[in-house]
Amino acid sequence: MRTTFVTAALATAAFAARSFLDEPDTGIDDVLGDLEVGQLPNVTEMVGLNDFQWAARHYLPGKNYTYYRNGAGGEWSYRNNLEVYNRYSLKARVLNDITNVEDSMSTTILGFNFSNPFFISPCARADYAHPDAELNLMKAASAADTLYIISGFATKSIEEIAAVAAENYTFFSQLYTTSNDTANQILFDRSEAAGAKALIWSIDAPGSPSRQRASRYGVTSAVTKLTRLTWDVYAKYQKMTTLPIILKGIQSAADARAAIKHGVPAIILSNHGGRNLDGSRSSLEVALEIYKEDPAVFREIEVLADGGVRYGTDALRLMALGVKAVGLGRPIMFSNVFGEEGVAKAIEIMHSEVMNDAANLGVADLKKINAEFVDWTPNNWYS
Ligand SMILES: Cc1cc2nc3c(=O)[nH]c(=O)nc-3n(C[C@H](O)[C@H](O)[C@H](O)COP(=O)(O)O)c2cc1C
Repeated sequence: MRTTFVTAALATAAFAARSFLDEPDTGIDDVLGDLEVGQLPNVTEMVGLNDFQWAARHYLPGKNYTYYRNGAGGEWSYRNNLEVYNRYSLKARVLNDITNVEDSMSTTILGFNFSNPFFISPCARADYAHPDAELNLMKAASAADTLYIISGFATKSIEEIAAVAAENYTFFSQLYTTSNDTANQILFDRSEAAGAKALIWSIDAPGSPSRQRASRYGVTSAVTKLTRLTWDVYAKYQKMTTLPIILKGIQSAADARAAIKHGVPAIILSNHGGRNLDGSRSSLEVALEIYKEDPAVFREIEVLADGGVRYGTDALRLMALGVKAVGLGRPIMFSNVFGEEGVAKAIEIMHSEVMNDAANLGVADLKKINAEFVDWTPNNWYS
């Protein structure tokens, strides 16, 4: 790991002029660079979401870190997910009274109240970061009253995870289904019995992805078969459960509109963190397409989104287009190297950033943020 880290540090220095930076240089190496490989810094040293990636890269065995970090193919979508936000500059307005902006941080998703306009996206195998795995995510998310979507490939059972939630906390459950409806029915029923208030059906992986980085460590996707995912199947599932079923993995305005036609209550724009179809667009680009071609979508259905969100300002760009809440995947998985405390710290950082960035943008009320706060003509910062 030490060799990997040193090589990575040298490569970062050598290619300082390159446009892509997985973890932008904010000085963490200067302060924590002497830390022994396999050691964790103090969680209080974490000042931004990318710091958790730095800590996990130092601390975890290569296989575990790579499972979280990897993207599909040449990782073009992975990189684009991270870079796309800063292609669109923010247009701050000044001399607005923003002192009550924190009151507008709370939101509803499908009518359920949450304290933050962001959520934990479903991610498999939390045990790769910490032995208590998803229990840490549930404890921290429920303490902060922030939505946690449990992965269908979680290490712990949904019953074990639900058991550690704070009282009266609302969580959702993500599922991958198969052609076996008896097994699917069991999944739906178990989620409901465990207390999930909605199901998330992930539809962006009907085929098995080419995850080259992960394949080298034998930790590629658990989805290995071609799966029939169609609107008819969605309609059938709706009859198999009383829970609302959200679609995760919408990647076009046309499919967002189709979701409305098929009675879907909410969608998550996502390209699976760039882990499935390399070359697929980021959620911000899809949200922008919807905004331009069919803006009524944002009023007719709840639109959530994830992918590459690392800063409060990323979240604000999505929200400016009409996205109600944004998901965090890798940053949370990385923060779990510190256990519950790390996940809590990641949530706290994101809360503070969204609130303060909104204030600095001149947004007095997050419910009223709109597209005018962003310059949608791509800038030339990287050209
Ligand atoms: C390690 C890992 C495991 C994931 N497992 C799942 C999963 O089980 N189900 C799912 O719908 N999405 C899964 N995803 C995708 C996330 O839900 C989410 O869409 C993505 O991570 C968001 O991008 P970000 O990591 O850049 O925040 C996974 C992502 C990662 C990084």
